[in-house]
Amino acid sequence: MKILVVKNKDELSRKSAEAIIDTVKQNPSAVLGLATGGTPLGTYQNLIRDRQENKTTYQRITTFNLDEYVGLDESHPNSYHQYMRTNLFDHLDIPRENTFLPDGTASDLEREANRYDKLIESRGGIHLQILGIGENGHIGFNEPGTPFSSQTHIVELTESTRKANARYFSSLDEVPTHAITMGIASIMKAKKILLLVSGEKKSQALYEVLHGNITEQVPATALRNHPALTIIADEAAFQNMPRQAGQLIFQ
Ligand code: F6R
Repeated sequence: MKILVVKNKDELSRKSAEAIIDTVKQNPSAVLGLATGGTPLGTYQNLIRDRQENKTTYQRITTFNLDEYVGLDESHPNSYHQYMRTNLFDHLDIPRENTFLPDGTASDLEREANRYDKLIESRGGIHLQILGIGENGHIGFNEPGTPFSSQTHIVELTESTRKANARYFSSLDEVPTHAITMGIASIMKAKKILLLVSGEKKSQALYEVLHGNITEQVPATALRNHPALTIIADEAAFQNMPRQAGQLIFQ
């Protein structure tokens, strides 16, 4: 595991974008695993700026997103399809048909979940997976208790995750109750993983990833077993961490 401690969110955004750009330059046909949420927004802005300034091309890149809400049409303003278009895809030269997200409106969701894992495999698997982390240690929408062996599947969202995501909706009632997400095992298949952790609110989750027991109760702890995990975390994410942990990290 490599840990890069950065001063703040801006630096996290720059460094993570550099890692993605390096991957794209080294392998112009790379398959990227992407996340939504607040954390990677700055990363995506840096990718867009780099595209404008340096003309990095994504014409042969393929992307797979981690998750999507169940019941939201892809044109719904709060769907992750829409988030990805607005915040990234519309500003790159990536062909729309190379960008994949699970379909949360599929009539047979189990089948859709299966199809999604097979599709990732058929494209040769993910080279670099970008991840954020929930305050409770979730990755994707894999909430505490999700088996480490899980493939893409349907989940019922916890109250804490629905509340955390309510900021994007006009009320908590509007936040969907279910989502379709890549499972822990699907995520762990990525050749490289880049976990982004920013802010004080994530410090407990970060502590668990670095020092806690590897347990299904904290899904992100599975990542410790990944052979090519890099964590970029800002100083705020180390805030409430016990002194001992902080020392270990900075050694
Ligand atoms: C998003 C996702 C989630 C987020 C997590 C953190 O596709 O899979 O696991 O990464 O909820 O969200 P933010 O970045 O908003 O704190």
